[in-house]
Amino acid sequence: MYHLIIDCDPGHDDIIASMVAMAHPETFDILGFTTVAGNQTLEKVTSNLLKVQTLLETDYPVSMGYDVPIIKALEVQPLAHGESGLDGPALPKAERKVTGLHAIEFMRETLKRSPEKVTFLCIGPLTNMALFLKTYPYLKEKIEAIAIMGGAVNSGNIRLKSEFNIYHDPEAAKIVFASGVKIIMAGLEVCYAGSIHLSEAEQANGRGRASQLFYDLMQFYDRYAIDRGWDRTAIFDMTPLIYLLKPELFETREYEVHIELDGEYTRGMTVVDLAKTENLLHPVTVLWDVKREEFIQVLFDSLDILDRRYQ
Ligand code: BDR
Ligand code: CA
Repeated sequence: MYHLIIDCDPGHDDIIASMVAMAHPETFDILGFTTVAGNQTLEKVTSNLLKVQTLLETDYPVSMGYDVPIIKALEVQPLAHGESGLDGPALPKAERKVTGLHAIEFMRETLKRSPEKVTFLCIGPLTNMALFLKTYPYLKEKIEAIAIMGGAVNSGNIRLKSEFNIYHDPEAAKIVFASGVKIIMAGLEVCYAGSIHLSEAEQANGRGRASQLFYDLMQFYDRYAIDRGWDRTAIFDMTPLIYLLKPELFETREYEVHIELDGEYTRGMTVVDLAKTENLLHPVTVLWDVKREEFIQVLFDSLDILDRRYQ
């Protein structure tokens, strides 16, 4: 059982990952969500999460975190996620409210109170996580692991060699990766290995409430792939979550991972030291490959579980 805090910037794939987590209370005890600026402004991503919770009739605590990266300026992602940060579905007016605690205060309170160690699923820029670790370092011992969607072994999506979540706040990533806490990294390559075919996503149309939300999200999210002539797309943020749920679907490797802060072409790159295999200082569990069909099946099984809750 994972006692989980989901730190996110919803974001289509953030919501899909959260739905998979919500479908599995036997594995995930969701303690709450913290939001961070990334895909869109902090106000927008938080409002998206509150609206989705209204639609899904859930009421997990939501605490707002940082509205800008530690040093860089905010660079939102309207191309991938739209002006709202969650374009596509018609969502209800939010009937949920935020806790009023800042994200890092919510993290502190939750970790202090929890008799068990807490796991973080970080699927946005790492600003909240980094500043929490810097502010309350003594609480590291209450952290089981930090499972991250971010970085890449040797590719990039927002820059030549940089993935969006890391590039958006590289100083934060540097702090988190050097923290000594157990890190699980789902970089771009393993997310691409688990890509969904656009035709598979169509299956969800006309099914239950959760499947319909997924389908409506994909109607917008798919456009990025369609515009580029691709027949599949990666639902990035569900990769580290499904790893926690079903590690047997993944191949993993341990490496030291450094964060590039200065490179003219490589700022925000995760430099994975492939040559070093012994005496690793801070080994990161890098998700290397995944059994695609079983991985996608987990998504559809999770949507079915949620759909049944609304019958
Ligand atoms: C990451 O960037 C965001 O657009 C997605 O939500 C995901 O977390 C992929 O690079
Ligand atoms: Ca995200």
